[in-house]
Amino acid sequence: GRRRDLAGLDVVVSAGGTREPIDPVRFIGNRSSGKQGVAVALAAADRGADVVLVAAHVDDGVLAEACAHPRIAVRRAGTAAELAEAVTDAAAAADVVVMAAAVADYRVSHVAERKLAKESAGGPGITLELVENADILAGLVASRRAGQTVVGFAAETPGEDETLLDRGRRKAARKGVDLLAVNEVGWTSGFEADENALVVLARSGEVVAEPRGSKREVADALWDAVLGIRVR
Ligand code: PMT
Repeated sequence: GRRRDLAGLDVVVSAGGTREPIDPVRFIGNRSSGKQGVAVALAAADRGADVVLVAAHVDDGVLAEACAHPRIAVRRAGTAAELAEAVTDAAAAADVVVMAAAVADYRVSHVAERKLAKESAGGPGITLELVENADILAGLVASRRAGQTVVGFAAETPGEDETLLDRGRRKAARKGVDLLAVNEVGWTSGFEADENALVVLARSGEVVAEPRGSKREVADALWDAVLGIRVR
């Protein structure tokens, strides 16, 4: 007997970390486990939503419950470009899109056809040229359907110069999303952990929720915040 307050909503959630190939055997990646995005998808589906979960690199064990859920369709994406295509495609019919994936900002400009070999480097070091990936969230905001809610995440490592909230507020204003879930990340927080803390910001910069707990608990609080702005 759980609440079914998201019944009738079509939602898209991205999760996990993209992998940008260097050559056939190497990639540039990040430490996102997908746990947070999967928790957002499970929370929505358990509350009645129909979910498309676009998974970048996520271990099978983390994805298992979502794969077995009758209201979740899982699609896989490797690179940022593949994630962009899958999310943009699914977003065309979505009421809410949540970008929890950790997307590479850059990719290797020339992917080698064969494994890069030390002998061919011709020196003690090697340089990889990187080019910028498209900002998927910016594309979603630009092509947002009437009534569609776009939610971003912001992974921040605040320093002496700027607080988490200030960094989040700047990103919220710049990204144009309806809600931005700001989380502090570091060597031991955010990525990979089972618990998380979010500061959920409205586009105005107003703090609408500050959940802390398991990734599932903060996911449920994020959906409460989504419902809060959709009825306004
Ligand atoms: O996966 P876990 O181990 O559970 O960890 C969860 C998490 C820390 C990865 C997650 O909670 C999180 O913060 N996800 C977003 C990570 C991220 O890429 O943040 P960002 O501040 O670099 O990007 C801001 C937003 O733009 C994000 O919604 C991101 O999905 C999106 N983005 C980024 C780059 C890009 N090219 N396109 C995008 O759409």
